[in-house]
Amino acid sequence: MSSNRASARQSGTDIPDHIKSLKLEQVNVFPLPVFQMAVPALAPHHDAIVDAFREKIDSGALPRNAHGFGYQTPANLLDERAWPAPWFREILAPSFRAACQRILANACTDWEPGMKRRWVNTMTIAWGVVQTGDTGGDNPWHTHVPALLSACYYVRMSARQDEGNFQFMNPLAANLFQPRVGELRPREGRMLVFPSFLNHRPSLSPHLGDDLRISLCLDGHFRAELFE
Ligand SMILES: [Fe+2]
Repeated sequence: MSSNRASARQSGTDIPDHIKSLKLEQVNVFPLPVFQMAVPALAPHHDAIVDAFREKIDSGALPRNAHGFGYQTPANLLDERAWPAPWFREILAPSFRAACQRILANACTDWEPGMKRRWVNTMTIAWGVVQTGDTGGDNPWHTHVPALLSACYYVRMSARQDEGNFQFMNPLAANLFQPRVGELRPREGRMLVFPSFLNHRPSLSPHLGDDLRISLCLDGHFRAELFE
């Protein structure tokens, strides 16, 4: 093959029009299931929630790296003794459980045909993750197994579009056709719900200054019951 012919083939100039015009359609057979839901009843309480977290950090009640990476609370958001205000028990957790039930209603199972099923929530836990401009180092990748579904609700985000985003690691083996890491831009007032097995992490917000990025995280544990 002459070098001219080879370069023409590489540049595509010798491809006939009926080949060039072929339409190639992408069909995503296995989409990554991540869900998003607005929770309008929580939005009026955002400022009070920010104040409550800020007070815990300023008073030393929420020391850095004491309960996980950065300024993370214990999993006590649904404990009335730790958080007397009803935001988390009466709005956050029921909204999450409702989202889970809707997602699980379409779960892929090969259980006994003809049997009805219900999903029983056996445990819901919730904790808060606060980022400052100096949260310190990269967040580690992690999953929430053995929970079934998990969520993050965003009270406050960094103003910069490239900070504080939600990164998911592709659950497929490394391949040429999909990126290894996917990233979503969370929105304040919305809850992201995802399968707990997905590896994920929040990206940092180094330019927050005096502001806070606050996400409220939940784990849902469920038991399936079959009945006639
Ligand atoms: Fe997480």
